[in-house]
Amino acid sequence: MSTRLFPTYKRWDLTFESASGDTITTADGREFIDLMSGIGTVNMGHNHPEIVDAVEKQLHRGWHGSNFFQYKQQEEVATQLTTMTGLQRVFFANSGTEANEAAIKLARKATGREEIVSFTQSFHGRTYGSMAATGQTKIHEGYAPLPGGFTYAPYNDYAQTEKYITSDTAAVIVETIQGEGGVIPGAQAFLEKVEALAKAHGALLIIDEIQTGMGRTGERFSYQKFGLDPDMVTVAKGLGNGFPVAAMMGREDLQPYFGPGSHGTTLGGNPLAMAAVHATLHVLNTPGLLSEVEAKSKQAFQHLRNQCEASDIVTEVRGNGLMIGIACEEPVAPILTKMQEKGAVALPAGEKVIRLLPPLTISEERLAQGLDIVMEAIKETAKTKS
Ligand SMILES: Cc1ncc(COP(=O)(O)O)c(C=O)c1O
Repeated sequence: MSTRLFPTYKRWDLTFESASGDTITTADGREFIDLMSGIGTVNMGHNHPEIVDAVEKQLHRGWHGSNFFQYKQQEEVATQLTTMTGLQRVFFANSGTEANEAAIKLARKATGREEIVSFTQSFHGRTYGSMAATGQTKIHEGYAPLPGGFTYAPYNDYAQTEKYITSDTAAVIVETIQGEGGVIPGAQAFLEKVEALAKAHGALLIIDEIQTGMGRTGERFSYQKFGLDPDMVTVAKGLGNGFPVAAMMGREDLQPYFGPGSHGTTLGGNPLAMAAVHATLHVLNTPGLLSEVEAKSKQAFQHLRNQCEASDIVTEVRGNGLMIGIACEEPVAPILTKMQEKGAVALPAGEKVIRLLPPLTISEERLAQGLDIVMEAIKETAKTKS
């Protein structure tokens, strides 16, 4: 297809037409089981009626007045978020990378220190600060000079990490499960020790919940499952069920450092985005939703682990909740293509990991159908090879 777009994305040979619940329809009329939720965003399923209704109502009331106005919608959503997290202050942005930029800026300003420690294989975004915090050289290539003051400690290696976190550290930014880096779960003891060391040195702990948050792991936020106590939390992707919106949440004592004029965004926190978030959080808090995620997670891991035992290609099935990585010995692109031929879409995480992020609302039957397609595609790809 001829295109006027920059070729920044490796696009599939599929044209999105519409979507509903856990199904995506392409322009040629084919239907696909959605095992990716728009890269972990449409957690409550496509076109969730309560969220559509909330956005539609706001659409006709006005989209944007600017942050010169007081917005009661922002206050309501900030109250929902602070009630859910125990943090006291919220800044709204439009994307995950912006939420992390806000956290990094605030950490430096509040501590008067420059150094930000993140981890190898991490992903925090594509703007300069968040990109510099991202511990993957392939993401940095060609963009030098990157802002200074960023170091990368080895993930899940506390003995080494200890050398990076010092009294010069402004903040440690960490994912509890590295998503883009290959669905790599942080070890409980590692994350707890990192938190303790950051606190001992007066460094702030920023937890990036952009991929793991909003029910993805069976808790509202993944750090709650690990029992961690962050100073700041960033969230985007699923926050508005796919509507572009993000938030940086922080402790009350950080409030004086983000005074008028110190940071901002024109469109961040606009009423349309707030309507999406308000309804999404309401759905997230539906009694039973999170325990259903846990039940479906158990089903999925059992299904995949049983069948993958005999596989020559699969080395590990890992993750948490409905964030699942199937690590393979070889590039997974042909497996993903085979899955598409069979009617399901999923993601890669790096070159050799299949990443499953189905909508949290997917039914058990539909999930099982999707997982059968994953396994068939893995087996058939292995067969073609031998
Ligand atoms: C953990 C994490 N942080 C930050 C980001 C960046 O979010 P966005 O693409 O909305 O800027 C992502 C996106 O994949 C992510 O997975």
